[in-house]
Amino acid sequence: MIDSYFDEILRDVNSTIAKYIQGDVKELYEASYYLFKAGGKRLRPLMLVCSSDLVGGDRKRAILAGTAVEVLHTFTLIHDDIMDQDNLRRGMPTVHVKYGIPMAILAGDLLHAKAFQILNDALAGLESSKITRAFQIFTESILIISEGQALDMQFENRQDVTEGEYIDMIRRKTAKLFSASTALGALIGGAKEEEVKKLEEFGLLIGIAFQIVDDILGLTANEEELGKPLYSDIREGKKTILVIKALEKASEEEKRLILKNLGNKSASKEELRDTAEIIKKYSLEYAYDLANKYYTQAIDKLESVEWKNELAGKALKYIAEFIVKRRK
Ligand code: IPE
Ligand code: IPE
Ligand code: MG
Ligand code: MG
Repeated sequence: MIDSYFDEILRDVNSTIAKYIQGDVKELYEASYYLFKAGGKRLRPLMLVCSSDLVGGDRKRAILAGTAVEVLHTFTLIHDDIMDQDNLRRGMPTVHVKYGIPMAILAGDLLHAKAFQILNDALAGLESSKITRAFQIFTESILIISEGQALDMQFENRQDVTEGEYIDMIRRKTAKLFSASTALGALIGGAKEEEVKKLEEFGLLIGIAFQIVDDILGLTANEEELGKPLYSDIREGKKTILVIKALEKASEEEKRLILKNLGNKSASKEELRDTAEIIKKYSLEYAYDLANKYYTQAIDKLESVEWKNELAGKALKYIAEFIVKRRK
């Protein structure tokens, strides 16, 4: 039941993406469409559409708004891979590796603008106060993501990042787009302000859990299954919760080894793997417990919402559970 519910949403989101991301400057549109073809979980549009369904919203509108957030997400991925100097995304060479950095920057710019165009179409016919609010949510999410990405980079140059600073950073770079998705779904679906707030909070909490798990997978997943390079967080000197905990708990000797390879762009894959083993020993359990803490709070929030559609509520619960249990 849930499978066919998701399939229908995915089919409609994917065909809407294909409809919008085309034009006659061939290489630009090819570079812009490339990652959509490569795959991706489409979690944000799924959560937006489920949130809208949950409050009894119009499906067509939700599909368009869901497409807008996925297009926005894809723009952030293209630029993120340039910043993080990563060469693999969704199991394929990253956009800048395939098309070059200048074209990848442009593809990101194009998708950024397309996202607004699609959102505008999604909001057609709504009362003007709602349209304004939706654009506010959308615009603010981009501002906050940029802040989070900047903090993420600044932390590369520090060794004293705290757990609180890490949570604040991932709340901005990642969780904000999840909360914008659930809030937009609720808003355009016609929910009362109080319910919009609750679904926004649900998105934020599960978005934090999502990024913690993403950081775990960066050191523990199967690279082929994940479709992204393992250990690149260590090479780039990222201060993930795993690194923060390991630096706190490791012996002096192990700490020295971690610091030697953290941010070392010329470290070999073997050296990175050995460093990852030490980091994991001190942090894996802690990180999973932390992700689960946010997951539990997220579920509590979701259950406090008035469900008008049982299947949509169950689907959101299913996605939340997937987010903490996933291997990709
Ligand atoms: C990757 O997000 C970027 C992060 C915020 C960690 P996803 O894991 O949702 O990426 P896709 O869309 O499924 O490829
Ligand atoms: C992703 O951050 C956040 C955004 C893309 C805005 P990461 O850099 O941690 O995610 P991955 O691991 O590359 O997907
Ligand atoms: Mg990255
Ligand atoms: Mg990054």
